[in-house]
Amino acid sequence: MDMDKLVSLCKRKGFIFQSSGIYGGINGCWDFGPLGVELKRNLKNDWWYNFVQIRDNMVGLDASIITHPEVWVASGHVEQFHDILVDCKECRKRFRQDHLETERCPECGGELSEPKAFNSMLRTRLGVSDDTAVETYLRPETCQSIFVDFKDIYSSTRVKIPFGIAQIGKSFRNEVNPRNFIFRSREFEQMEIEFFCREEEEEKWFAQWQEDIWAWYLSLGIKESALRWYEHPKESLAHYSKRTVDVEYEFPFGWGELQGLANRGVYDLTQHSKHSGKDLSFFDPEKNERYMPTVIEPSAGADRTTLAVLCDAYDEDEVNGETRVVMHLAPKLAPIKAAILPLVKKDGLAELAENLEKKLRKKFITYYDHAGAIGRRYRRQDEIGTPYCVCVDFETKENGTVTVRDRDSMEQVRIPMDDLAGYIGTRVSFERD
Ligand code: GAP
Repeated sequence: MDMDKLVSLCKRKGFIFQSSGIYGGINGCWDFGPLGVELKRNLKNDWWYNFVQIRDNMVGLDASIITHPEVWVASGHVEQFHDILVDCKECRKRFRQDHLETERCPECGGELSEPKAFNSMLRTRLGVSDDTAVETYLRPETCQSIFVDFKDIYSSTRVKIPFGIAQIGKSFRNEVNPRNFIFRSREFEQMEIEFFCREEEEEKWFAQWQEDIWAWYLSLGIKESALRWYEHPKESLAHYSKRTVDVEYEFPFGWGELQGLANRGVYDLTQHSKHSGKDLSFFDPEKNERYMPTVIEPSAGADRTTLAVLCDAYDEDEVNGETRVVMHLAPKLAPIKAAILPLVKKDGLAELAENLEKKLRKKFITYYDHAGAIGRRYRRQDEIGTPYCVCVDFETKENGTVTVRDRDSMEQVRIPMDDLAGYIGTRVSFERD
């Protein structure tokens, strides 16, 4: 699949635009348009459904993006969250040293400067006057608030170890070279879980999360052959990690990380206990025992997963001698679940279809369209991944039945209008057996 084709489709159809486009754009920031917002929201809701709602050992959090600056000292980000940069002495372009494959500038072949460290956190100032404002950061990962709020959460709920806390939200990193569409951005969304367990059980839970994460990617309809695990060698682990494996997807530009699964040990709770002076250990009343729990962290990118879903869904085939672009999005993720189309505008069919669409939109996202030949209208929906097209025709007037066309097989079934909400509703829901 050609990445340019996908980027162009995303812009043309309203999935994703460059941020501030009319001002020439801003590097590393993206806007999700009318279809993109539905797709990404479905993805996040499905993640929440799978990893929070249907589990009895998970709770959620929605913490502030701006925190006390000491959080980032304790977490190690102030000290450690650096990229090593080099500048080209000829063309003045700047690169991350670990992204370079040669010792010369990849753009012009020029000589490179000595490497220097650059902290990737975005700084901000909180407060109204220059002399009292406090300098802090926009969070570079969502998980730190989970550690900071750990005690408030476990003492305000009835959770017992082992349990996890999940959060979805924006993170910010001053990436040196934002690139590959939404793959590497400066503002992005993470879906993170911190799972607290006893150290003796760390391997068991690590393996369990590996299994659950893999199953979730498959449930998104992503081809298993385009997914793989990457185990980080011991010598290149992040400062907090005892072990990290990544789920990678084979993008048109190469394999790229979608999600990391790390064993963070007791690093974060110990650090925040030290820096805040508040004991964040866990007290088990049944065993009358106090200990620092070990943390297993599945940390996924919502934007990267959305990009993988889009890349994987993109397809071109030929129907009656014409090229058809079809997005084979999993029905639970598709932005529009059903398009309601009158066969022709006349003879009351348009009105009938419009009324049907108004009824169905209370259940899921629908679209009404009467412009152009029915075949063209089907193609327009295929291009944006709508799984079902409902055609209201002359038989509808006679016996109240409609045809439902399946996007992938293009087969049509005839069913009573009254059964539509159930027929489509079960096929587009998050629920799994
Ligand atoms: N709390 C651990 C953590 O943040 P990470 O590997 O730095 O780990 C986790 O980030 C996930 O966040 C990545 O697997 C990726 O999906 C997403 N992510 C990280 N940086 C990103 C960026 N600049 N643009 C888009 N997504 C990013």
